[in-house]
Amino acid sequence: MQSIGVGLIGTGYMGKCHALAWNGVKPVFGDGPRPRLVHLAEIDADLAARRAAEFGFERATANWQDVVADPEVEVVSITTPNALHAEMALAALAAGKHVWCEKPMAVTLADAERMAEAARAAGRVAALGYNYIQNPLIRHIGALLAAGTIGVVNHVRFEMDEDFMADPEAPFSWKSDAASGYGAPDDFGVHPLSLIAVLFGGVARVMAQLAKPYADRPLAGGGRRAVATFDSACVLMELRNGATGIMALNRAAWGRKGRLAFQIFGSGGTIAYDQERMNEFQLFTASGDPAEQGFRTVLTGPVHPPYERFIPAPGHGLGFNDLKLIECHELLNAIAGRPARIIDFAAGLGIERAVHAIARSHREASWFDV
Ligand SMILES: NC(=O)c1ccc[n+]([C@@H]2O[C@H](COP(=O)([O-])OP(=O)(O)OC[C@H]3O[C@@H](n4cnc5c(N)ncnc54)[C@H](O)[C@@H]3O)[C@@H](O)[C@H]2O)c1
Repeated sequence: MQSIGVGLIGTGYMGKCHALAWNGVKPVFGDGPRPRLVHLAEIDADLAARRAAEFGFERATANWQDVVADPEVEVVSITTPNALHAEMALAALAAGKHVWCEKPMAVTLADAERMAEAARAAGRVAALGYNYIQNPLIRHIGALLAAGTIGVVNHVRFEMDEDFMADPEAPFSWKSDAASGYGAPDDFGVHPLSLIAVLFGGVARVMAQLAKPYADRPLAGGGRRAVATFDSACVLMELRNGATGIMALNRAAWGRKGRLAFQIFGSGGTIAYDQERMNEFQLFTASGDPAEQGFRTVLTGPVHPPYERFIPAPGHGLGFNDLKLIECHELLNAIAGRPARIIDFAAGLGIERAVHAIARSHREASWFDV
């Protein structure tokens, strides 16, 4: 395959990230087909045309069905608000396209199940936007865990904090609308859950408390509207490997900009990581002279693949968009039938089940199996 035809639906924050990844994947990795940016959709025709010119797409439309129906489009990036993922992914799969859909997979579990079944029946690759699993250091941490470097893992602590909902007067957006899902658990918590899935095989049961710090938010046209989603969550977890864990989520955490932090405690050491400092992690091993033991900082470099595809020099650092580009390359590997590190719709269903178990646990104040 010399080239692959790409469609993009939605050109906001994530739409631009996907466009950058599609534009950069061939220069960075060198292998695989050259993406041909064929058709892009936005809700407004003028904006669609502008974005197509900026991102390098050949055609633009205000009707996303045009992208799905385009015979020259072979893979569709879906970067629209959560409530639209299911309808768009199902249509793309029905048209025989591969799909790269942003997280969360869907708002309801029934829709997520339909999407996983549609991908299976179509025999197409359907990958989810779980970019944080693509950090070369997360791969390396996975290898350290598999090698037993910190012994048997018995407890984990995950935190995800950002402050985009911290201002009580921030305008009402789709993220506060019930149509977008629960809020912190699915819009947000799916990211730590994706890391738990690749590092530990997922979550077995949960006990959760969700909260709405602000009851309502101002509307653009005046007045206020009640907030329907939860901005914070506290979750007790039992992982599939038997370890206990805690996950704390807060979309209203002033000062935290992109904190996706975890500590992994084992019988022989500890690993600590924070996405705000995504080019390093901390490793403590209970070995050697106790008088000289301590956490050491490991910086990312060419020894942590695929960092070397971006820069030959260690310690210079990758960024968020590079994770998206690695994700794009893994998607192309999967389409080519090569081993790929993606969370596809089948695996993503496990994350969705955890999300809905968290919401049910909050409603019924009880532990729930995932
Ligand atoms: N993977 C990540 O780290 C990450 C980060 C942020 C957001 N997301 C996810 O990406 C998705 C989009 O979020 P965002 O922050 O980019 O939102 P956004 O509001 O910046 O962009 C969404 C875009 O979709 C467009 N759109 C809406 N309805 C459309 C339709 N019917 N047809 C065509 N275009 C339409 C909007 O006009 C907008 O430009 C969400 O599901 C979100 O959860 C993922």
